[in-house]
Order: sequence, then structure tokens, then C-alpha cells
Amino acid sequence: MINWQIEKFASVESTMDIAHDRAGNGCAEGRVIVADEQTRGHGRRGNAWVSPVGNLYCSIILRPELAIRNSGQISFLTAVVLADTVMPMLSDDHIYQNKWPNDSLIDGRKFAGILLENGTSGHQLDYLIIGIGVNIVTAPQDKIDLASVVKNPIGKDEFLNALTLNFTMRLDQWRKHGFAPIRQAWLTHAKGLGGDIQVRLPQGDLGGKFNGLDENGALLLGLDQGLEKVIHSGEVFFGPMN
Ligand code: BTN
Repeated sequence: MINWQIEKFASVESTMDIAHDRAGNGCAEGRVIVADEQTRGHGRRGNAWVSPVGNLYCSIILRPELAIRNSGQISFLTAVVLADTVMPMLSDDHIYQNKWPNDSLIDGRKFAGILLENGTSGHQLDYLIIGIGVNIVTAPQDKIDLASVVKNPIGKDEFLNALTLNFTMRLDQWRKHGFAPIRQAWLTHAKGLGGDIQVRLPQGDLGGKFNGLDENGALLLGLDQGLEKVIHSGEVFFGPMN
């Protein structure tokens, strides 16, 4: 069982910095840094995460028994926790999907972002920080907010409460049964599974079938003649090659 300890701030540059500081100073797992707004919120690939008041911005500190190379499992676990939390809130006419590797979509638009960072000592994982931003009441134009798709309005504190409860359950499941049930839960809502996709890689785009995930969450891309490529990072586009 995780003992959640929520530490709240009005305005910070990024909850990630404070979480690194707390974790580096030895805080227990389960510490959650939450801020009403961020002035330098950021996401993956150096993108900014616009963070006005009203949405949820938090960084969760965990200390899992895990090899550094397998830590990506925890971002899939987090995506599953978001699905567990949000799906029961949605009114009927909305579609929930996970987009590989880390995007949580409603009606094809992103409502939340997950950023995983770590602290290591030598070759060992010391701690993980899971940054989560959820568009509760407002979203940039290409994204979506929960207020426009839920049956009943939800505030960020109530949302965080539900999120930590679901985290406790999924972490317990992961610690007992490993990654397989998490991967299965993620795949249940995977966008484009079994269909044609393009993956943008540094050396160019590669087309194939989205066959599933490997034992750590890498994407399995089916190629001609029964070949399969394991993709660890890249951006996915849906549909056949133009
Ligand atoms: C992404 O989709 O690129 C990930 C976005 C992660 C944003 C959250 S908001 C809370 C935490 N603090 C940050 O600066 N980033 C993460």
C-alpha cells in the first residue's frame, strides 16, 4: 500500500523540479507535488506544457524495484490509471484511446500528458518521477478538456483523489503480477491496434501493422514477409503510407 502525501503549491516553475529535490533528499515514495499553476511546465521532447490555473499539474515520486531499462512500464501503468479514472466519468458519446507511447486521448484529442523522469545511483534506479498534466477545465486548441466531455463536473482535487486511488490498485497489481495485465489493459483502448501505421524514426518513416507491445511496452511493427521490428521510440501516425 502506498502512503500518499500531497504537498500543494500555488505557483511553481515546474512540479518536476520540486519532486526531484524532494526525492533527492530521501522522501518516501508516495509524495505528490501539486501546483495550481506552472510558469515553466514542460513535456516530452522539450515541448512546453501550458499550465494555467484550473487544471491539474502533479509529479508523483515512486521508488519501484525496477531495472532502469524497464522503467517505461510505469508510464504505461500511468496511462492505464488515467483510463481507469476518466472512462467512468465520460458521457456516452465519447471515445477514449491510448496512443503509443504516452498520449491519452478523448475523441482523438489529447486531454492529459505523462512525463517520466528518473534519479539513479550508479546503474540502479533510485526513484521515478511521474509528471501528469490533466486538462480539467481548459485546453490548448488542438487538445481537449474534461469539462466538455464528462457527465458531472469534476474539480482537480477530486480528480487527484480518484487518480491516487487507482494508482494504488494498479501498482499493487503490477507488483503482484508484473507488466502483463497492465499491457493488456493498455491495449484494450489502443488507437490503431492491428491497423496500418507509420512510425517517424530519425532515419525516416517506416510503415507497417501495429501488432502490439513487447514485454516492456516497445511497439511491435509488423513488416512484410512476417518480419517484425521492435520500436522503442518514435512518433506514430495512423493509416497506410501515402
Ligand atoms: C507530454 O505529453 O509531453 C507530457 C506533459 C507532462 C506535463 C506535466 S504537468 C506536471 C508536470 N510538470 C511539468 O513541468 N510537466 C509535467
